[in-house]
Amino acid sequence: MKSVTAPAEPRRGLGALAAGLLLPLLAACGDDHLTRYPQTTYAPRTEMAEIQMGLFNLTLYLGVAVGLVTFALLGWIMWKFRYRPEAPEPRQIHGNTTLEVAWTLFPALIVAVIAVFTVKAIFATQPEPPANALNVRVIGKQWWWEFQYPVNGGQDTIITANEIHVPVGQPVQLLLESDNVLHSFWVPQMGGKRDLITNRVNRLIFTPREPGVYLGQCAEFCGDSHALMKMRLVAHTPQGFQDWLNNEARPAVEPLDSTSSVAVGKKLVTQGVCAGCHVINGTPMVGRQGPNLTHFGRRRTLAAGIVENNAENLAAWVRNAPAMKPGSKMPQLGGDIPNALTEDQIQYIVAYLQSLQ
Ligand code: CUA
Repeated sequence: MKSVTAPAEPRRGLGALAAGLLLPLLAACGDDHLTRYPQTTYAPRTEMAEIQMGLFNLTLYLGVAVGLVTFALLGWIMWKFRYRPEAPEPRQIHGNTTLEVAWTLFPALIVAVIAVFTVKAIFATQPEPPANALNVRVIGKQWWWEFQYPVNGGQDTIITANEIHVPVGQPVQLLLESDNVLHSFWVPQMGGKRDLITNRVNRLIFTPREPGVYLGQCAEFCGDSHALMKMRLVAHTPQGFQDWLNNEARPAVEPLDSTSSVAVGKKLVTQGVCAGCHVINGTPMVGRQGPNLTHFGRRRTLAAGIVENNAENLAAWVRNAPAMKPGSKMPQLGGDIPNALTEDQIQYIVAYLQSLQ
């Protein structure tokens, strides 16, 4: 009996090994890939991202081909020259010129092919800025993103944070800068990455195709909360983008009722501790350290994309920002510190900030 069951064991082992290797690959191609991994490079939505994925696939396929050939040869050699007690000692040789020339030339040829496609991709992904491009200045901060939209022929600037809005079908030219350390702009489905460097303006040009919300992330280590420096790229229809821009251009909404908690919150925010670091257009606030909060209530997330923008998270953030984001430049304002905001005051502040639609 043993002679029958024994050979089945290794075969089952091999099957499991093959399944283990193939399943992740198959899963990567499945429909739910985007849902499970929203920050993916495998679902490009711009030409730039497609070019980059093409390059990745080229090197992947070549690498897999080289790997398969190498392991097949290795297996064949191991089998052919396996130890046999009755066999005489093999012929002793030193070097084989043909073989050495072949295994030098062949990899060089593969690298040359990759180089040709790489150079093509470098030029294709760094085009001259198209005349109809939408320019957006992107400034990397520790640890959040500022987005500036020049409007009215450059006379005015609309400033927002952590959520970059763009129209589909129009080239977007990002002008990437930093006034502190290195960062890197990366929204994988749009393509990337590109660094934000002090004293230099880097450009990134792409044309979003489909409306949607795309996840992004700083891709260059920039300090304590580098991993928490996220963003959303919102691609609108052209009309939707114009609506968004028009709303952003308005000053902050005023509380309707001067005795409401929103009005109390407004006083706390605009005349209190927030005013030192934030701007809300239409109020006397002038601080430029932190994100512009003029239409904060409309943003999907807070603290540079790490949590949903809701009352509970916002209160927790105002209470103790560094607890949510290590190293945060926004200090702890509530809880167990001298001159802390009371819980009531925090709720008023939350009410006002949420009203900023
Ligand atoms: Cu900014 Cu990492």
